[in-house]
Amino acid sequence: MQKILVARPIFPDVIERLKQYFDVDWHQGDVLSVDELTRRLADKDGALTAGDPVGAAVLAAAPRLRVVSNMAVGYNNFDMAAFNAANVLGTNTPDVLNESTADFGWALMMAAARRIAESEHWLRAGQWQKWIYDGFLGTDIYGSTLGVIGMGRIGQALARRAKGFNMQVIYHNRSRVAPEIEAELNAEYASKQDLLKRADHVVLVLPYTKENHHTIGAAEFAQMKPSATLTNIARGGIVDDAALVEALRTKQIAAAGLDVYEGEPNLNPDLLTVPNVVLTPHIASATEATRRAMANLAADNLIAALGEGPRAGRPPNPINPDVIGKARS
Ligand code: GLV
Repeated sequence: MQKILVARPIFPDVIERLKQYFDVDWHQGDVLSVDELTRRLADKDGALTAGDPVGAAVLAAAPRLRVVSNMAVGYNNFDMAAFNAANVLGTNTPDVLNESTADFGWALMMAAARRIAESEHWLRAGQWQKWIYDGFLGTDIYGSTLGVIGMGRIGQALARRAKGFNMQVIYHNRSRVAPEIEAELNAEYASKQDLLKRADHVVLVLPYTKENHHTIGAAEFAQMKPSATLTNIARGGIVDDAALVEALRTKQIAAAGLDVYEGEPNLNPDLLTVPNVVLTPHIASATEATRRAMANLAADNLIAALGEGPRAGRPPNPINPDVIGKARS
């Protein structure tokens, strides 16, 4: 039997599925250190990860490893140049999380715009003595302009929901989406600068790459409306978190909603000191149904990539399909 490592806690029934095909080493504790991950992968043919960094050194120490299946749509934790050089396949879990993640983007955006977390903390602290006419004034959602940066599958799911709020949708993306998608979403392509100037609510749904490190920083906050909100459900590092703290403190923008952070889970401590930001711990895809679907898809990818099951040799979500069938190097 081939050997695999499952580096994260996942639902036990998915582990049972994997055990039909593999000898499973299941790590259920805290996130594995790079050293421990390297050690546990030394004799493995495949691995199921979720955000664990895998680069050249880890691959070199695991000569049998042929596939690493990431239980996430984003795979910036993989050094794909190293995967390609070693002929190791990477896979991810797109699509199954689109709707849950889009729902959550709205939840964060609305919580930020309407100051839900901030006012709740105030109420819990026993500060509510009387109704206040001008207390916790927020920014409207209905009839406002939504600016989506990153119009992939999740961005589109997010934009689709804007219809019910009678919003104007503008978007920025590496390339324009197909005209029929623009028409369906009633979405207008805009330059990043134009979007930042016009949007009442900016939502980030783009993958993290070196090129878009700090796509939103001091210069971008300077272009946004003082009444605007920023929501990040994409990846830490796309936003310069220190510049965001400053923009929130000085009310250069009204509020923010963050699910992802630079250096998470060790976020910039200054974020905890500003009231006009809603902070959640990377849970945008965290519904029971979606996390189960992600684990099952990650298992499907692993099973097929290691030549087992009904899709043997044809994993559903290869990131670097060119290495399929090539000998490990
Ligand atoms: C979560 O962040 C994912 O990339 O799926």
